[in-house]
Amino acid sequence: MKRVLFVDDEPRVLKQLQQMLESQKDQWDMAFAPGGEAALTLLAASPFEVVVSDIAMPGMDGAAPMKIVCERYPAIVRIVLSAPQEMETALRAVPVAHQFLLKPCDPNMLRVAVERATSLLNILSNKLLANLVGSVKDLPVLPRTYMALRQKLAEPEASIRDLVHIVEQDVAISAKVSQLLNSSYFGLPREISSVRTAVGFLGIDTLQNLVLSAGVFSMFDQLALLPGFSCEELQAHLQLTAKIAGQIPASAHLRGIAVVGGLLYDVGKLVLAMRAPAHFKRALQGAQTEGHPLYVVETDLMGVSHAEVGAYLLGIWGLPSPVVEAAAHHHNPHRVPQDSLDAVGIVYISNRLAQPGSGHAPSAESIAQLEIDPDYLERLGVSEQFSGWQEMAKASASELHLES
Ligand SMILES: [Fe+2]
Repeated sequence: MKRVLFVDDEPRVLKQLQQMLESQKDQWDMAFAPGGEAALTLLAASPFEVVVSDIAMPGMDGAAPMKIVCERYPAIVRIVLSAPQEMETALRAVPVAHQFLLKPCDPNMLRVAVERATSLLNILSNKLLANLVGSVKDLPVLPRTYMALRQKLAEPEASIRDLVHIVEQDVAISAKVSQLLNSSYFGLPREISSVRTAVGFLGIDTLQNLVLSAGVFSMFDQLALLPGFSCEELQAHLQLTAKIAGQIPASAHLRGIAVVGGLLYDVGKLVLAMRAPAHFKRALQGAQTEGHPLYVVETDLMGVSHAEVGAYLLGIWGLPSPVVEAAAHHHNPHRVPQDSLDAVGIVYISNRLAQPGSGHAPSAESIAQLEIDPDYLERLGVSEQFSGWQEMAKASASELHLES
């Protein structure tokens, strides 16, 4: 039984939730708190796995209860429910929530959100994984400049000038960003020499993503050479995946998440190369000689694969949970309960489309070659779009000069 605590200052809403979730009684042990103070008292008295809370409550200011839950009980899954008009405030005010859901929330959506978040937590709390990659304090931290950009963007009056200034202050990152900008990736009409001009061409979201990719890869640039593994190739592959992910039709919010997921879903390989090079080397060799996927060999050898390791790091970095989920499930998206295209689906499909040779004329055969399960595409309702996406992937790959 999962213990789930619901918090809302309006007794009517709590009552509705209780009635709505009647059918969950066999799986969830539920408690209902009429406000932040009451919730904290219940949490202090007995352990919970999930807190689902309203965002705007009197007594405690806005996100305060969630912040306290995050500090005192970091292992608890935190889901915020907010009315559409509070959504923007909620997103700005609560970097401590794992998920946001809009009120009124359909019981099925709430059930899926809780199940998804807790299944992720099981992966992330795997002891083997913690032993393998070391304690949290030994892991690289989220690139400082990216973090600063995110914080600045959360301020309502942040200007482009402030944002550019943050990037320019980090000389190493600025240099990497310029290098990426002037690579064939963007196909910009002329050489871009300043971050400021780049923002004009590409927009602040792209700049933020570039800073993230450059920052992450620069943390791992001291890796020992491992046969069959190249950081440059991995970064190029992730950029192609992100580029494809950004072109799959989705809401602006989902697209933003999917692009970040596309840039980072394989970061676990870098962590393994850094923290467990001997194991990773054996896995690479094993994958090559046995012809099995790398993640399968890793799991046989180490009990976890780069997918879980990557998700673990991204979770520690506090990236939005759909990004963490996209990394955790990028080889097995089927295990996620989903019936429409979400970040897990987009990142998975984009990764498959970014494989070498994916630009061939679309056919049933080429789908099989890509190892995409047609039933999975069917389940997400995107079978018909897929051949168009293959063409788009082909064009993206040739822009990047990756396709033979
Ligand atoms: Fe992978």
